[in-house]
Amino acid sequence: MAITTQQLIQWKQQGRSIVALTAWDYAIAQLLDAAGVDLILVGDSMAVVLGYETTLPITLEEMLFHAKSVRRGVKRALIVVDLPFLTYQESFQQAMHSAGLILKETGAQAVKLEGGYPAMVETIARLVQAGIPVMGHVGLTPQSVHQIGLRQQGKSQEAAERILNEAIALEQAGVFSIVLEHIPADLANLVTQKLSVPTIGIGAGPHCDGQILVTSDVLGLSEKHPPFVKVYTNLRETITKAVQDYTVEVRERKFP
Ligand code: KIV
Repeated sequence: MAITTQQLIQWKQQGRSIVALTAWDYAIAQLLDAAGVDLILVGDSMAVVLGYETTLPITLEEMLFHAKSVRRGVKRALIVVDLPFLTYQESFQQAMHSAGLILKETGAQAVKLEGGYPAMVETIARLVQAGIPVMGHVGLTPQSVHQIGLRQQGKSQEAAERILNEAIALEQAGVFSIVLEHIPADLANLVTQKLSVPTIGIGAGPHCDGQILVTSDVLGLSEKHPPFVKVYTNLRETITKAVQDYTVEVRERKFP
Protein backbone atom coordinates (compact mmCIF):
# COMPACT_ATOMS: atom_id res chain seq x y z
CA MET A 1 0.00 0.00 0.00
CA ALA A 2 1.31 3.44 -0.92
CA ILE A 3 2.33 5.55 2.07
CA THR A 4 0.37 8.75 2.71
CA THR A 5 1.15 12.00 4.52
CA GLN A 6 -1.50 11.06 7.12
CA GLN A 7 0.28 7.79 7.79
CA LEU A 8 3.50 9.63 8.65
CA ILE A 9 1.59 11.67 11.24
CA GLN A 10 0.11 8.46 12.71
CA TRP A 11 3.57 6.88 12.83
CA LYS A 12 4.77 9.81 14.95
CA GLN A 13 1.91 9.14 17.40
CA GLN A 14 2.84 5.45 17.45
CA GLY A 15 6.57 6.15 17.86
CA ARG A 16 7.50 4.39 14.60
CA SER A 17 10.62 5.97 13.12
CA ILE A 18 10.33 7.25 9.52
CA VAL A 19 13.05 6.22 7.04
CA ALA A 20 13.77 8.75 4.29
CA LEU A 21 16.40 9.06 1.55
CA THR A 22 16.85 11.14 -1.60
CA ALA A 23 16.62 9.81 -5.17
CA TRP A 24 17.28 11.32 -8.59
CA ASP A 25 16.31 8.62 -11.11
CA TYR A 26 14.35 5.43 -11.79
CA ALA A 27 17.09 2.94 -10.90
CA ILE A 28 17.96 4.47 -7.52
CA ALA A 29 14.29 5.06 -6.64
CA GLN A 30 13.37 1.46 -7.46
CA LEU A 31 16.15 0.13 -5.22
CA LEU A 32 15.25 2.42 -2.30
CA ASP A 33 11.54 1.63 -2.56
CA ALA A 34 12.10 -2.13 -2.74
CA ALA A 35 14.46 -1.90 0.25
CA GLY A 36 11.65 -0.41 2.36
CA VAL A 37 12.35 3.35 2.48
CA ASP A 38 9.17 5.19 3.60
CA LEU A 39 9.74 8.61 2.05
CA ILE A 40 11.75 9.42 -1.07
CA LEU A 41 12.77 13.04 -1.54
CA VAL A 42 13.65 14.25 -5.02
CA GLY A 43 15.87 16.80 -3.33
CA ASP A 44 17.53 19.75 -4.98
CA SER A 45 20.76 18.30 -3.51
CA MET A 46 20.56 16.31 -6.77
CA ALA A 47 22.19 19.46 -8.23
CA VAL A 48 25.48 18.17 -6.82
CA VAL A 49 24.97 14.71 -8.41
CA LEU A 50 24.47 16.61 -11.70
CA GLY A 51 27.80 18.41 -11.23
CA TYR A 52 26.65 21.80 -9.89
CA GLU A 53 28.55 23.35 -6.93
CA THR A 54 25.42 24.29 -4.93
CA THR A 55 21.67 23.66 -5.11
CA LEU A 56 21.01 27.11 -6.57
CA PRO A 57 21.36 26.49 -10.34
CA ILE A 58 18.98 23.52 -10.65
CA THR A 59 15.82 24.42 -12.56
CA LEU A 60 12.17 23.45 -12.23
CA GLU A 61 12.43 21.66 -15.60
CA GLU A 62 15.31 19.53 -14.30
CA MET A 63 13.38 18.71 -11.11
CA LEU A 64 10.31 17.73 -13.18
CA PHE A 65 12.38 15.49 -15.46
CA HIS A 66 14.05 13.66 -12.55
CA ALA A 67 10.89 13.45 -10.42
CA LYS A 68 9.06 11.71 -13.29
CA SER A 69 11.88 9.19 -13.52
CA VAL A 70 11.75 8.58 -9.74
CA ARG A 71 7.95 8.19 -9.87
CA ARG A 72 8.30 5.36 -12.39
CA GLY A 73 10.48 3.42 -9.93
CA VAL A 74 8.31 3.75 -6.82
CA LYS A 75 5.37 1.61 -5.71
CA ARG A 76 5.18 2.21 -1.94
CA ALA A 77 7.15 5.21 -0.68
CA LEU A 78 5.73 8.72 -0.39
CA ILE A 79 7.44 10.95 -2.98
CA VAL A 80 8.25 14.55 -2.04
CA VAL A 81 9.88 16.97 -4.51
CA ASP A 82 11.90 20.08 -3.62
CA LEU A 83 10.87 23.36 -5.18
CA PRO A 84 14.16 24.75 -6.50
CA PHE A 85 15.61 28.16 -5.69
CA LEU A 86 13.59 31.10 -7.06
CA THR A 87 10.65 29.01 -8.17
CA TYR A 88 8.58 29.87 -5.07
CA GLN A 89 10.10 32.79 -3.14
CA GLU A 90 8.87 35.59 -5.42
CA SER A 91 5.14 35.30 -4.74
CA PHE A 92 2.36 32.94 -3.73
CA GLN A 93 1.32 32.73 -7.40
CA GLN A 94 4.82 31.61 -8.39
CA ALA A 95 4.84 28.97 -5.62
CA MET A 96 1.38 27.71 -6.62
CA HIS A 97 2.41 27.47 -10.29
CA SER A 98 5.63 25.54 -9.48
CA ALA A 99 4.07 23.22 -6.89
CA GLY A 100 1.05 22.61 -9.14
CA LEU A 101 3.29 21.60 -12.07
CA ILE A 102 5.18 19.17 -9.84
CA LEU A 103 2.02 17.46 -8.61
CA LYS A 104 0.31 17.45 -12.03
CA GLU A 105 3.25 16.37 -14.20
CA THR A 106 5.25 14.01 -11.97
CA GLY A 107 2.69 12.14 -9.87
CA ALA A 108 4.62 13.00 -6.68
CA GLN A 109 2.41 13.46 -3.61
CA ALA A 110 4.01 16.50 -1.98
CA VAL A 111 6.47 19.37 -2.30
CA LYS A 112 9.13 20.74 0.06
CA LEU A 113 9.91 24.43 0.49
CA GLU A 114 12.77 25.90 2.53
CA GLY A 115 12.30 28.53 5.25
CA GLY A 116 9.96 29.40 8.09
CA TYR A 117 10.01 33.22 7.90
CA PRO A 118 6.60 34.95 7.91
CA ALA A 119 6.20 35.42 4.13
CA MET A 120 7.11 31.76 3.49
CA VAL A 121 4.70 30.58 6.20
CA GLU A 122 1.96 32.59 4.50
CA THR A 123 2.80 31.06 1.09
CA ILE A 124 2.79 27.55 2.57
CA ALA A 125 -0.55 28.14 4.33
CA ARG A 126 -2.09 29.10 0.99
CA LEU A 127 -0.62 26.08 -0.82
CA VAL A 128 -2.01 23.78 1.88
CA GLN A 129 -5.42 25.48 1.65
CA ALA A 130 -5.34 24.78 -2.08
CA GLY A 131 -4.86 21.06 -1.39
CA ILE A 132 -1.10 20.78 -1.93
CA PRO A 133 0.69 18.73 0.77
CA VAL A 134 3.80 20.62 1.93
CA MET A 135 6.88 19.54 3.86
CA GLY A 136 8.73 22.34 5.67
CA HIS A 137 12.51 22.69 6.04
CA VAL A 138 14.25 24.76 8.74
CA GLY A 139 17.71 25.01 10.33
CA LEU A 140 20.39 24.83 7.65
CA THR A 141 18.56 25.72 4.44
CA PRO A 142 21.07 25.11 1.61
CA GLN A 143 19.36 27.52 -0.81
CA SER A 144 20.60 30.29 1.57
CA VAL A 145 24.20 29.05 1.35
CA HIS A 146 25.56 32.48 0.33
CA GLN A 147 23.96 34.02 3.42
CA ILE A 148 24.46 31.39 6.15
CA GLY A 149 27.05 28.99 4.71
CA LEU A 150 26.73 25.27 5.40
CA ARG A 151 27.39 25.60 9.15
CA GLN A 152 25.29 24.15 11.94
CA GLN A 153 22.39 26.50 12.74
CA GLY A 154 20.54 27.26 16.01
CA LYS A 155 23.58 27.34 18.29
CA SER A 156 22.76 30.57 20.15
CA GLN A 157 19.70 30.89 22.38
CA GLU A 158 18.23 33.47 19.99
CA ALA A 159 18.80 31.35 16.88
CA ALA A 160 17.37 28.26 18.62
CA GLU A 161 14.23 30.20 19.61
CA ARG A 162 13.84 31.44 16.05
CA ILE A 163 14.04 27.90 14.62
CA LEU A 164 11.55 26.59 17.21
CA ASN A 165 9.12 29.42 16.41
CA GLU A 166 9.50 28.85 12.67
CA ALA A 167 8.70 25.15 13.10
CA ILE A 168 5.61 25.96 15.19
CA ALA A 169 4.46 28.51 12.60
CA LEU A 170 4.94 25.96 9.79
CA GLU A 171 2.88 23.39 11.68
CA GLN A 172 0.13 26.00 12.13
CA ALA A 173 0.33 26.70 8.38
CA GLY A 174 -0.51 23.03 7.78
CA VAL A 175 2.73 21.23 6.80
CA PHE A 176 2.55 17.44 7.22
CA SER A 177 6.20 17.15 8.27
CA ILE A 178 9.32 19.28 8.73
CA VAL A 179 12.96 18.61 7.84
CA LEU A 180 15.34 19.79 10.58
CA GLU A 181 18.77 20.18 9.01
CA HIS A 182 22.09 20.49 10.88
CA ILE A 183 20.89 21.83 14.23
CA PRO A 184 21.90 20.75 17.76
CA ALA A 185 20.31 17.50 18.96
CA ASP A 186 18.64 19.10 22.04
CA LEU A 187 17.01 21.76 19.86
CA ALA A 188 15.76 19.07 17.45
CA ASN A 189 14.44 17.15 20.47
CA LEU A 190 12.59 20.22 21.74
CA VAL A 191 11.06 20.95 18.31
CA THR A 192 10.07 17.27 17.96
CA GLN A 193 8.35 17.31 21.38
CA LYS A 194 6.46 20.55 20.64
CA LEU A 195 5.07 19.47 17.24
CA SER A 196 2.39 16.95 16.41
CA VAL A 197 3.64 16.57 12.81
CA PRO A 198 6.79 14.44 12.36
CA THR A 199 10.26 15.96 12.25
CA ILE A 200 12.72 14.36 9.83
CA GLY A 201 16.29 15.05 10.89
CA ILE A 202 19.48 15.37 8.88
CA GLY A 203 22.44 16.13 11.09
CA ALA A 204 19.98 16.90 13.89
CA GLY A 205 20.62 14.03 16.30
CA PRO A 206 18.66 10.91 17.26
CA HIS A 207 15.46 12.42 18.73
CA CYS A 208 13.64 13.32 15.49
CA ASP A 209 10.64 11.28 14.33
CA GLY A 210 12.61 10.10 11.30
CA GLN A 211 15.93 10.49 9.53
CA ILE A 212 16.91 11.50 6.01
CA LEU A 213 20.29 11.46 4.29
CA VAL A 214 21.41 12.27 0.76
CA THR A 215 21.68 8.89 -0.98
CA SER A 216 24.83 9.72 -2.96
CA ASP A 217 26.54 10.44 0.41
CA VAL A 218 25.26 7.22 2.04
CA LEU A 219 26.46 5.14 -0.93
CA GLY A 220 29.89 6.77 -1.10
CA LEU A 221 29.26 8.31 -4.53
CA SER A 222 29.78 11.95 -3.48
CA GLU A 223 33.19 13.57 -3.76
CA LYS A 224 32.64 15.17 -0.33
CA HIS A 225 29.88 15.03 2.28
CA PRO A 226 28.83 16.83 5.47
CA PRO A 227 30.39 15.70 8.80
CA PHE A 228 27.20 14.13 10.19
CA VAL A 229 26.80 11.64 7.30
CA LYS A 230 27.31 7.91 7.79
CA VAL A 231 28.72 6.37 4.60
CA TYR A 232 27.39 2.80 4.40
CA THR A 233 29.31 1.66 1.32
CA ASN A 234 31.94 3.03 -1.09
CA LEU A 235 30.46 2.95 -4.59
CA ARG A 236 33.17 5.25 -5.97
CA GLU A 237 35.71 2.55 -5.20
CA THR A 238 33.47 -0.30 -6.40
CA ILE A 239 32.64 1.42 -9.71
CA THR A 240 36.24 2.51 -10.34
CA LYS A 241 37.51 -1.04 -9.77
CA ALA A 242 34.84 -2.56 -12.07
CA VAL A 243 35.56 -0.04 -14.85
CA GLN A 244 39.35 -0.53 -14.51
CA ASP A 245 38.92 -4.32 -14.72
CA TYR A 246 36.74 -3.94 -17.83
CA THR A 247 39.25 -1.52 -19.40
CA VAL A 248 42.15 -3.93 -18.87
CA GLU A 249 40.18 -6.91 -20.21
CA VAL A 250 39.09 -5.05 -23.36
CA ARG A 251 42.63 -3.73 -24.03
CA GLU A 252 44.13 -7.18 -23.49
CA ARG A 253 41.37 -8.79 -25.58
CA LYS A 254 40.27 -10.94 -22.63
CA PHE A 255 36.69 -9.69 -22.93
CA PRO A 256 34.53 -10.72 -24.67
O1 KIV B 1 17.80 18.43 -1.19
C1 KIV B 1 17.92 17.61 -0.27
O2 KIV B 1 18.50 16.53 -0.43
C2 KIV B 1 17.37 17.96 1.03
C3 KIV B 1 17.81 17.11 2.18
C4 KIV B 1 19.11 17.62 2.65
C5 KIV B 1 16.79 17.06 3.24
O3 KIV B 1 16.68 18.92 1.16
